Amino acid sequence: MTEAALRSAVKKSLEANQHVVDEHQYTVPSVSSYPYQWLWDSCFHAIMYSYTDVNAGKAEMRSLLSRQWDNGMVPHIIYWQNNPNILQIDWGVEKTSTITQPPLLAHAIWKLYQASGDNDFLAELYPKLSLYHQYLWDERRLPNRDLLGIINPDESGEDNSPRFDRAQALPVQHHVEENQTRRFALFDMHRDCQYNANTCTSAHFWVEDVPFNVFAILALEAMSNIARELGEDASVWTHQAHAIATAMREHLFFDGSFWSVEGHAHEPIFVDTWARFAPLMVGLYSKEEAADLIQQHYHNTDSFARPHLLPTVAANDPSYDPEEPTWGEAWQHPDWRGAVWMLPNWCVYHGLKRYGFDIEARALRHSSLRLIKQSDFRENYHPETGIGMGAVGFTWSGLVIDMR
Ligand code: GLC
Repeated sequence: MTEAALRSAVKKSLEANQHVVDEHQYTVPSVSSYPYQWLWDSCFHAIMYSYTDVNAGKAEMRSLLSRQWDNGMVPHIIYWQNNPNILQIDWGVEKTSTITQPPLLAHAIWKLYQASGDNDFLAELYPKLSLYHQYLWDERRLPNRDLLGIINPDESGEDNSPRFDRAQALPVQHHVEENQTRRFALFDMHRDCQYNANTCTSAHFWVEDVPFNVFAILALEAMSNIARELGEDASVWTHQAHAIATAMREHLFFDGSFWSVEGHAHEPIFVDTWARFAPLMVGLYSKEEAADLIQQHYHNTDSFARPHLLPTVAANDPSYDPEEPTWGEAWQHPDWRGAVWMLPNWCVYHGLKRYGFDIEARALRHSSLRLIKQSDFRENYHPETGIGMGAVGFTWSGLVIDMR
């Protein structure tokens, strides 16, 4: 696929999923399956718009931040328009969900700035971004730990990832509906805790997750850039980024890789997912560690080197199950138990580039493009066959446009 063909396909798919409600412009991930605005999806859209339509990207970010809570939390879903048939969850609040998603906002906004040079846009959103990061720093850390915690698997964006099984008392093999029931029960517990994450909800579920903290570092680096560009003090953000990176090395590094930990006892979660590659993107491995990681795991045909890259779970992990799970007739469930998703590919691609693994990076990009060519923009893909699964007309498989 040529650059121009990719750009035009991405543009078309974004435009097909664009909505405007009460002057709020946003892009839904898939018209038929996900008709609302999602946090990290919108960040991916903004990154994609930085190549195709900067103004639409800016509008998307403004809409997303317009529903920020007073305490700084940015909710992971905004229901601009209710669809009675899809994902009706009683959150107990108006128009939004009560949890967040990986903090990629500042990174996406910085990308839009780089594409437009629009300083006013940065100045307009900087106070809201600052409030969001202050919220994460204040309410998403346990005492004496500089790691951010999530209070629900959905906050990772990888809803049913096997990284979160044990913390929910789920056996490796379980029905997808059971998985959702547990996650929904956690929404109620969060409400009972009056949305106090670290001081209350963390007693029910708390994971210091590797990718979430990696994205936080990425965002904090963007926050520093934004602050400098605006002539503001960047030191608070550089300090936080440094503190998280140091804490990840101290608390999440075991046996040559980074692993998420759960609960107040910080138990390591040795479930082999793509998460072990995520820290490459922000440079947390030494050169030697990275070389070992790539050699032993990325190139291992038993685990990650499958016909289509990159499975989200290693093929030799007991939880590996990339089939499309269904229940009932119509409802497909997002599958993070092995299927290929474009976000991990995007993250790992940038990590590989950062460490000079150019051949591997090129191959990952090629594999991603091949999936789109074979199966179009789908929610995810089967790592053995390349068959498209989950939602159709799914925008952020177009993230491959930012793999360059
Ligand atoms: C699913 C995905 C999540 C995404 C949402 C909307 O829940 O697991 O990552 O944000 O769909 O696309």
